Amino acid sequence: MRPLYRLYTGVLRRQLAGLPMPQHVAIVMDGNRRWARQAGYDDVRVGHRFGAEHLDQFLGWCGDVGIRCVTAWVASADNMRRRDSAEVDYLMQLTETVLADQVRRDHRWRLHVAGQLDLLPSSTANALKDAVEATRDRADAGDLTIAIGYSGRGEVVDAVRGMLDEAAMSGQSLADVAAGLSEDDIRQHLYLPDLPDPELVIRTSGELRMSDFLLWQTTRSDIAFCDLYWPAFREIDLLRALRTYGHRRLDRNQ
Ligand code: IPE
Ligand code: MG
Repeated sequence: MRPLYRLYTGVLRRQLAGLPMPQHVAIVMDGNRRWARQAGYDDVRVGHRFGAEHLDQFLGWCGDVGIRCVTAWVASADNMRRRDSAEVDYLMQLTETVLADQVRRDHRWRLHVAGQLDLLPSSTANALKDAVEATRDRADAGDLTIAIGYSGRGEVVDAVRGMLDEAAMSGQSLADVAAGLSEDDIRQHLYLPDLPDPELVIRTSGELRMSDFLLWQTTRSDIAFCDLYWPAFREIDLLRALRTYGHRRLDRNQ
């Protein structure tokens, strides 16, 4: 690390002391292909590889400042359906090798998966399920969720479907369900109902949209948009986003 950069990182870390920190940070890792093109690679898959490997570093930085819950958006349901099959195959291959492997080796995290797993090749779904199993009993670990084949609206639809299925099985009428329906009924049927909502969402690459990410969970979240492409996102960018978040929360509570 360059000395000036190291110095600045230390300054930012000290500035975070005493500020409110998010418990849960969600990250939209956008800009892999643009990063690859800008770096002179014709093959955009290089960007995906750097992007997948970069998550490991990001998790380390989060761990260092005490963030114990991270959700990372690896691929949307739309990405799975619309991108060309060679690119999707490569993303799935990276998920099976780089991502699943990282989380098995790094004992600081327990893995969870959110998304429509039936959109994934069975080898990818199985690799993720195995990694979830392998990390399940890690005491004191943080919670890392990989959102893959994920759609926020799709999650709400899946939750409502799950809730209705359950009600039908217990013999309730539709009229009963409608009369008693609460936000909590839907929340309890989300993919990971026990995780707290993310207080902070970070999106890289300068895109100013949520794009169907965590629709239900982000109604009260702060959002930090960062112009850098995901593989170029640095620790200081995370620390700055946390500093802005901390000041905003402090101001709101005063
Ligand atoms: C993010 O990078 C990774 C995925 C969505 C799979 P992109 O592939 O969206 O790269 P850009 O945004 O086109 O540069
Ligand atoms: Mg993109």
